[in-house]
Amino acid sequence: MKKWEYTAKDGRSILVRTAQRGDAPKLHEGFHRVVDEGTWLPTFSANSHISDWVHWIDKTNRNRDILLIAFLDGEYAGHLTLQSEEWNASQHVAKLGIIVIKECRNIHVGRSLMLAVEEIGLERDFTKIVLSTFDDNEVAKALYLDLGYRIVGIRKKHFNMPNGFIDEVLMEKEIC
Ligand SMILES: CC(C)(COP(=O)(O)OP(=O)(O)OC[C@H]1O[C@@H](n2cnc3c(N)ncnc32)[C@H](O)[C@@H]1OP(=O)(O)O)[C@@H](O)C(=O)NCCC(=O)NCCS
Repeated sequence: MKKWEYTAKDGRSILVRTAQRGDAPKLHEGFHRVVDEGTWLPTFSANSHISDWVHWIDKTNRNRDILLIAFLDGEYAGHLTLQSEEWNASQHVAKLGIIVIKECRNIHVGRSLMLAVEEIGLERDFTKIVLSTFDDNEVAKALYLDLGYRIVGIRKKHFNMPNGFIDEVLMEKEIC
């Protein structure tokens, strides 16, 4: 198991580590909580089960996928996923997804997960990370831009959310 230690903006400790089987209920609950906010993700209802998370965690021990979990003073705060592109010629590219639960935002939990994944991503031979976000997600865009991600495109009206259409912002970073 790999782990990293950081300090939150408010002085609390942030531990980031690779996910283990026993983390599945926390990952499952965290994802459900963010989906239930109905604001940040293009998923309206989370259909995953705890067993799906267990399978995914097991897979990360066999393939190049990465699942990182963050704890704030020992309590689950968020997680990050990194998955290889499918194309043969894009095996150096990984797709990133990240969530931090509402109570733990804006104190650098997200930044800590993003910093840790660059290190382990390189170890798993990824040299480029791609991600996307809603155009109105100012916190996410600020974090990604600050970490050196660049905007490479906008998909206009790509998501039809309950409050109307939202553009998708495509971003990427070479980490080598
Ligand atoms: C996006 C998300 C992962 C970021 O994680 P986080 O822990 O909140 O982010 P951090 O605290 O590391 O960094 C956020 C930065 O945005 C800044 N910020 C906060 N509000 C802002 C605003 N309205 N406009 C611009 N920047 C803002 C913060 O000050 C901080 O910058 P700093 O390093 O200068 O302090 C988290 O907010 C989240 O999970 N949101 C809901 C789900 C989501 O949007 N997932 C990502 C989908 S692409």
